[in-house]
Amino acid sequence: MDHRGVREMTAISGKAGGTSASASARVFARSTGRTRGPLLVPFGGGKGGVGKTFVAANLAATLARAGYSVIAVDGDLEGANLHTALGVPRPRSSVAEFVAQREEDVLKLVEDTPIEKLRLISAVRPNLGAPQPSHSRRVAFIRALRQLDADFVFLDLGAGTDPAVMDYFMVCDDGVVVLVPEPTSVENAYAFMRAAFYRRLRLTLVAPELRKLVSTAMDERNERGIRTPLDLMREVESIDPAEGARFVAVMRTFRPRIVVNSVRSAEDIKLGFSVRSVCRRYFGIEADYLGYVNHTEAAIRSVRSGTPLVAQEPRSDAAVYFARIARKLLAPRPAGREEGERP
Ligand SMILES: Nc1ncnc2c1ncn2[C@@H]1O[C@H](COP(=O)(O)OP(=O)(O)OP(=O)(O)O)[C@@H](O)[C@H]1O
Ligand SMILES: [Mg+2]
Repeated sequence: MDHRGVREMTAISGKAGGTSASASARVFARSTGRTRGPLLVPFGGGKGGVGKTFVAANLAATLARAGYSVIAVDGDLEGANLHTALGVPRPRSSVAEFVAQREEDVLKLVEDTPIEKLRLISAVRPNLGAPQPSHSRRVAFIRALRQLDADFVFLDLGAGTDPAVMDYFMVCDDGVVVLVPEPTSVENAYAFMRAAFYRRLRLTLVAPELRKLVSTAMDERNERGIRTPLDLMREVESIDPAEGARFVAVMRTFRPRIVVNSVRSAEDIKLGFSVRSVCRRYFGIEADYLGYVNHTEAAIRSVRSGTPLVAQEPRSDAAVYFARIARKLLAPRPAGREEGERP
């Protein structure tokens, strides 16, 4: 590992300040208000092929190599491939077993990967005709994941904004939105965050007519002229101030994290900042820019060989970028909007 790599990795594990990585994760958990259970992090982004699996696998491997226990879960029953990225060509078990109610104990779905401290729940599906999980089954699955003994549980999601994907993204702690510097990906990332935000709102508001109003607002061309979440907020507040307060609370707690993958220039790196500022102006929400990963042939090599890039080429630039992202994930979140402060 080169100097930069060593420094970055030491910075990650050094957060423990002489204690174990697990102890450090617990301190971190307290700083984020969680007192027990793993930090459940979903990876979404709307667009297919932007590197959600690549980022989830490599970030998981980075944290595992720094001493944290990580369980990487494939949440993409349609296009399961996290196992391949993590070097488990033939998984023994799968989420499909839980979905089909053949296995109720999620712990039995967990298997080792070649990387120490990094375990996997795959989503291989021997029967392609088997049904997708129902909403209640997805909720049960998430509940079971929260009981797992690990510092982190990463959930690699499929493309799109289907209810299956959004359910997972919404109920987890701090979703990561992966995008690449291409207009279509940026557009899909906004659509993805918008869908997640509105779904969370719909669950939070109490009055049925206001929930309906949220559904109306989800259609961008609605006749009431509600174009942005901020428009909707004003409308909800004018109808019912108590519901308006709930709305603002959702805005305060919905804090997606952004990773820009496949950057090739300084301009590409800036994309994360501009997405953050659009989120603030358009949604009234604070998104955090976790970091970026360069476009590199090493990514393709690593996928081909079934070894995460950070393990295969720990001196690479990409490994350094992943270490930076991991460090940010471990740090207490920067202050968002203050209690009572208006978006
Ligand atoms: N930083 C990168 N540099 C070069 N190639 C990359 C990079 N990140 C990902 N790729 C390539 O893009 C391909 C798609 O990545 P990945 O499977 O992680 O995307 P995804 O968002 O999970 O896709 P899906 O929506 O189908 O699940 C990978 O096979 C990999 O070769
Ligand atoms: Mg994927």
